[in-house]
Amino acid sequence: MVFLPWYSAVLLIAAGFATYFVFGSFLAGAGYQPAPDRVIRRMLGFARVTAADRVYDLGAGTGGLLFRAVEEHGATGVGVEVEPLRYLYLCYRRRRSRARSRVHILRQNLFDVDLSSASVILAFLWPGAMRRLRQKFSAELRPGTRIVSYYHQIAGWVPVEKDEHLRVYYYTIPPTLDAPSLQPSGVHPAPTSRDPAPAALSSKP
Ligand SMILES: C[S@@+](CC[C@H](N)C(=O)[O-])C[C@H]1O[C@@H](n2cnc3c(N)ncnc32)[C@H](O)[C@@H]1O
Repeated sequence: MVFLPWYSAVLLIAAGFATYFVFGSFLAGAGYQPAPDRVIRRMLGFARVTAADRVYDLGAGTGGLLFRAVEEHGATGVGVEVEPLRYLYLCYRRRRSRARSRVHILRQNLFDVDLSSASVILAFLWPGAMRRLRQKFSAELRPGTRIVSYYHQIAGWVPVEKDEHLRVYYYTIPPTLDAPSLQPSGVHPAPTSRDPAPAALSSKP
């Protein structure tokens, strides 16, 4: 029988915990990685977040993005997080925040959350999750809602603004879904009743 020194056991447990923390939510829609500071600034800048906004961070992680929107831009924030440890940490952060009355933390699968009251959506998720979200956005979001995605684009939608270097993509739900000025100019898949492809969301050629 091989005996490992005590610190090997500690290292193994720490490695197991770190692996779980980063990859535990992988199949739900994304593993864990916080958005870097300059990305957060670009995301909130693109969406022009103000105190009038209700911001949903879909997969809020440890809250870097969510609390910046609330504490620095004055928005009301809803953080959705499926992983229990990060959820608990978000609740802890909320309790300590001076803006806690404007922060709501949901321990839920983001695909089950009603997004119809959002004015801004923030997302840093895997491409598969962004693909599924496109249908949900089309069905639930109100015209004028702003969406900012970090790292992955919404497949089939053309961003209104983007920062290719930082990989930040900004979309808006157009004011009217069938306004002539918002019709796509290129070839696009036939829209479903609530999955149109107007200019802001038009399909890539
Ligand atoms: C890449 S991290 C982004 C964290 C944070 N939004 C940021 O930008 O710093 C993705 C987060 O989404 C969470 N997540 C993944 N799938 C989810 C789902 N289906 N419902 C809710 N949260 C989810 C993960 O647990 C993880 O914390």
